[in-house]
Amino acid sequence: MAGNRTFTMIKPDGVESGNIGNILQKITDAGFVIKALKYTRLSEEQAKKFYEVHAERPFYGELVEYMTSGPIIAAILEKDNAVADFRALIGATDPAEAAEGTIRKLYAESKAKNAVHGSDSDENAVIEGEFHFSANEIF
Ligand code: CMP
Repeated sequence: MAGNRTFTMIKPDGVESGNIGNILQKITDAGFVIKALKYTRLSEEQAKKFYEVHAERPFYGELVEYMTSGPIIAAILEKDNAVADFRALIGATDPAEAAEGTIRKLYAESKAKNAVHGSDSDENAVIEGEFHFSANEIF
């Protein structure tokens, strides 16, 4: 059975372009309930750990540098079928390929600066949520 939680970040470009409010509005309008929310900035160590799975990719260094370049919003979201529904809401990794009306189509700059993160599995949603939030920060 599909889980009911996912983890997201509004990435530095989404914050820098002034779209925190617009993106959170799209998320809540789509029926997601915010269970945890934080405005923070990733350290290099945190970004390297969070994206460890991409360590061998050619863009890893660029990704870590970008994700530490400014503040982000981190959030845990709840909804039936959360992981798949959220990935549909944000659209393809590359905004040029994202469907009309999706968050990345509306607000992302490029494949690297793609405005938002969404967990790719129920298992990773838990790992990523716990990476950013302690139990007393989740409501
Ligand atoms: P996301 O899917 O949230 O997590 C992995 C991130 O790596 C992805 O978003 C992009 O921000 C980034 N990424 C993926 N592919 C590339 C690429 N070819 N060049 C630069 N960054 C990328």
